[in-house]
Amino acid sequence: MKIVSFKRIFLFGIFLISCLAFAQNKSERELILIDKDWRFSFGHLYDTEKDFGHATGYFSYLTKTGFGDGPAAKDFDDRAWRKLDLPHDWAVEQDFSESGSFSHGFKTSGKGFPEKSIGWYRKKITISESDKGKIISIKFDGVFRNSKVFFNGYYLGTEESGYNGFEYDVSAYVNYGGENTIAVRADASMEEGWFYEGAGIYRHVYLQKTNPIHVVANGTYVTTEIKNNEAAVRAEVSMENKGKYKGSVEIIQTIFDGSKKQIASVSENVNAPEFYKTTHYASKLNVKSPLLWDIVNPNLYRLVTQIKQNGKIIDSYETPFGIRTIKFDPENGFFLNGKALKLKGTNNHQDHAGIGTALPDELQYFRIKKLKEMGSNAYRCSHHPPTPELLKACDELGMLVIDETRLMGINEYHLNDLKRMMERDRNHPSVFCWSVGNEEWNIEGNIVGERITNVMQDFAKSIDSTRSVPVGISSGFKSGISSVVEIMGYNYLGNGDIDAHRNQFKSQPGMGTEEGSTFATRGIYFTDDAKHYQSAYDRKPRPTFYSIEEGWKFYAERPYLAGMFIWTGFDYRGEPTPYGWPSVTSYFGMMDVCGFPKDNVFYLKSWWTAQPVLHILPHWNWSGMEGKEIDVWVYSNCDEVELFLNKKSLGKKKMLQNSHLEWKVNYTPGTLEAIGYKNGKKILGEIQKTTGKSENIKLSVDKENVQNSKISVVTVEVTDTNGLHVPTANDEITFSIQGGKILGAGNGDPASLEKDQFIDAVSLVPITNFQEQKRTTANLPDELQDYPESDWKLAFKDRDYKNQSPSYIYKGEFDLKNNSASNKVSFFYKKIGVQTVIFINGNKVNPSGEDLQKYVLDAAILKDGKNTIHIAVTPLQKVKDWDVLNTDPGIIQIITPSEPWKRKLFNGYAQIIIQKEENAAEVVLSASAKGLKAGTLKK
Ligand code: GAL
Repeated sequence: MKIVSFKRIFLFGIFLISCLAFAQNKSERELILIDKDWRFSFGHLYDTEKDFGHATGYFSYLTKTGFGDGPAAKDFDDRAWRKLDLPHDWAVEQDFSESGSFSHGFKTSGKGFPEKSIGWYRKKITISESDKGKIISIKFDGVFRNSKVFFNGYYLGTEESGYNGFEYDVSAYVNYGGENTIAVRADASMEEGWFYEGAGIYRHVYLQKTNPIHVVANGTYVTTEIKNNEAAVRAEVSMENKGKYKGSVEIIQTIFDGSKKQIASVSENVNAPEFYKTTHYASKLNVKSPLLWDIVNPNLYRLVTQIKQNGKIIDSYETPFGIRTIKFDPENGFFLNGKALKLKGTNNHQDHAGIGTALPDELQYFRIKKLKEMGSNAYRCSHHPPTPELLKACDELGMLVIDETRLMGINEYHLNDLKRMMERDRNHPSVFCWSVGNEEWNIEGNIVGERITNVMQDFAKSIDSTRSVPVGISSGFKSGISSVVEIMGYNYLGNGDIDAHRNQFKSQPGMGTEEGSTFATRGIYFTDDAKHYQSAYDRKPRPTFYSIEEGWKFYAERPYLAGMFIWTGFDYRGEPTPYGWPSVTSYFGMMDVCGFPKDNVFYLKSWWTAQPVLHILPHWNWSGMEGKEIDVWVYSNCDEVELFLNKKSLGKKKMLQNSHLEWKVNYTPGTLEAIGYKNGKKILGEIQKTTGKSENIKLSVDKENVQNSKISVVTVEVTDTNGLHVPTANDEITFSIQGGKILGAGNGDPASLEKDQFIDAVSLVPITNFQEQKRTTANLPDELQDYPESDWKLAFKDRDYKNQSPSYIYKGEFDLKNNSASNKVSFFYKKIGVQTVIFINGNKVNPSGEDLQKYVLDAAILKDGKNTIHIAVTPLQKVKDWDVLNTDPGIIQIITPSEPWKRKLFNGYAQIIIQKEENAAEVVLSASAKGLKAGTLKK
C-alpha cells in the first residue's frame, strides 16, 4: 500500500510539473477569428438621419475621446439589424441596374447609390478580466473601403485602402470582464479600381491578445541563401515593448520542416526595447540539404519566434517560409532554383460567381487549383494587394505571385501602402515580384513616371532586396517608366515594339505583364451582338490586339522574355468590354466567373503542361444547321490528330508547336471524334456527340474542392437520357438545402441579371408622429381606452422631469407598405418607461420569450399601410439633473423571406456554393426544374 501511494504522489508530482511546464510554454499570444455574428445595416452617404444620426452630436468623436455617436456608440441598439457572418460583400447582394457602375458590374451599390454606399457593422465581444495587462487588438485583413472603426464608442482610426490589412490596439478602451462593442462604418461610395471591388468587411477579422512585449504585426522577415546544399537563413524580428519592463529577454528562433521536425534553433539574450519602442534583431540559422520550394513540390518550413522573459515564454509567433532562389536574367528570362522557368501566368481580380469578393478561404484553393490544372505557374494580383489566404494557397499549392500595390506615387499614401503590403507578404515564397504599378497612362511615358518609379523601386528594395520590381506598361515601350524600371512589364504586344525596346535596353529583363484581353463566352461559337455573346474561338479580338495563341507564340519563342500573364485567368464582374449594359461581367477570362473552362483553357493546357491533351470545339448540338459548314478546331499536344464525323475520316493533320488544328465540317448530327497520335501511335480519343433533350439534373462536387471542408463548390448540369451532358441546356433550376446554407449562385453568363444571392430582406421602419397624453393613475391599462383626440401633444416636448405624471400613454404610427402575411414583423422596443404595456392597432401584445423588449407581431393584427402603436408606461425618472433619458420608442423590423434559390443553366452549367452547418452530419442539396428529373447531392 505504502509503495502504491508513494507512486501516486510521485506521478501526481510529475503531472503538476508538466502542467506547470505547459503553462509556462504557452505564450500569451492568441489570435481569435471573430467572423461570426455581426450585425449589419446600411447607413447613408449624406443623409445623417438615415445614417442613424452618426457624427451629429455637439461633441463628435473627433472632438472628445469616446464620443462616437449613433451606431458608433457602445450601447446603440442594433437588435433589429440584420445578423450575418463575415466575410461579407454587400454589393453582390444587390440587384443590377443600368445606372450602376460599368466597372463594378452594374450593381446598385456604391457610387450613385447613397443609400447603398455606407455599411455599418457591429459586433459584441467579451474580454475576460484575466486579459488585463495584455495588449488587445482588433485586426482587419481588409475592408472595402474607407473604414472608420470604433471600440466601445472610442474612435480608433480610418483606413482608406480597400485592400490593406490594419489593426488597432484597443487595450485602453476594453471593458475587462464584460461586453465590448466593435463598430465599423465602411464607405464604398468611391471606387479605387476600374473593376469590381465589392463592398464591406469582405476579409477576416481577428481579436488578438499579446504580452506587452511582443513581435509586432508582420514583424518577422526571413531570407535565405543557398550554398553547397545548405541554406543560410536570416530571421529578423521586430519586437515592441508596450509595457514598463526593463531588463533582458531571450529571443529563440526555431525552424521546423514540413513534417514538424525541428531543424535548427538559436537563442539570444537582448535588452527589452524601451517603453513603446520597437527594436530589430537578426538571427542566423542553417538548414542542411533543404527541401526547396518550387511549383511542383512547394516545400514549406516554419520559423517559430519565441520571446522569453524570466524563463517564461511570453510570445510565440509563427512564420511559414520557403527556401528557394529566384532570378531574372535579361538574356534568358526567369530562373527558379537555378533552372529556367517560363512564366505561364494569369492576371486576376478577386471576385467569384455568386459571392463577389467575400470568398471563403476554400475558394482561394479552388481557384488556384483550377489555374494550375490549366498549366499556369504564376499569378498576378492585378491591381491591388490580395487577401492573405490567396498567398497561403499559392505557397501551399506552388504558384508564383506578382504582388501589386494599388497606386503609384511618392507620398505617404502610396509608399506606406507599398510598405504595408511588402511587410505583410515578404515571407511568402510564392511572391517573386513587387509590382509598383500598372498602366499609369498619365505618367507612363514621361519624366514624372520615371521619377516616381525610381523612388518606388528604391523604396521597395530598401524593404526587401530579394525580389524584383516590375511595372505594367501600355503606352509605348520607349521612355518614362520603361526606361528605368527594373523589370519591364509589357502590357500587350499591340501597344509597342517589344523587340525594339529590348534592343535599346539590353540589361533590362522583361515579361508580358498583360497579354490577351480576348473576348469569349463559354459555350458560344457564333458571336451574337444582340445577346452580348462572343464566340469562344480564339480569334484576334480587335485590330491591335492578339489572340491567346499569337500572344503565347510570341513569348514562347523569345528566351529573353520571362513569360507572360494572360488577361485574365477568370472572368470577373465589371469591364464587360466589348459590350456594356446589360452585360455585367468581363469576357476576357480563360474561365468564366465560376471557373468553368472556355475552350482556350485547352489550348493553354496543351502547351503549358506535359499531359496529353485532346479537345474538340464546338459541341455537336446544332439542330437547324444541318448541312451548314461549321468550324471545328482541335487543341492538342499530340503530333497528329485525325478527325472523324460519324466514323468517316475527315483527314489527319500535323500539329505544329503552340498551334491548333482546324477543319470545316458540314453539320450532320451524330459523333465527331478526334484521335491523337504521338510517334505514330494512337494515344488519345475525344468525342463530341449530339445529345438528346435534357432529362436529368446532375449535381456534383468539383474535384478542386478542398477535401473534407465545410464549403463545397457544386457543379449543376443536365444530362440526356443516356447520361450525356447537354451543352446547350438553359433550364432554370430551383434549389433547396438542409444541414447548411447556399452562399451564392452563378452560371458564367456575362449578360445574366439573375440574383446572385437569395437572402431574407431586413427592413427597418421608424415610428412616426409620436405623441403623448398624461394619465392620472400609475395603473397601466389592459385594454386600449378612448383618449380625447384634442389632448394628444408631441411626445416628451417640454417634459418637466421633476414633476411627471404617474403614467403616460404614447401614440405613434408605422407604415407597412405592401406588407405580405409571410413577412415577419417585430417591434424592438427601447425603454421609455419603467413598466410598459403595448398595443398594436388596439390589440395588446406580449414580449417575446427571447427578449423582453422585442414584440413579434402577428400578421392577423397588422394592416397594409398605416398601423398604430400605443405604449402605456410609468415614466423613467432622472436621478441626476443632467441625466439624458431615452425618448426613442424603438423600431419596427420587417423580415421578408426570400424566394427559393434558383439559377438558369448557361450553356449546360451553373454553380452553387454551399456551406455545411457547424454541427450537421451532412448537408443535402436538392435541385428541381420543370420537366426534369430532380437531382440531390449529399455531403
Ligand atoms: C488593361 C488593364 C486591365 C484591364 C484590361 C482590359 O489595360 O491593365 O486592368 O482593364 O486592360 O483589357
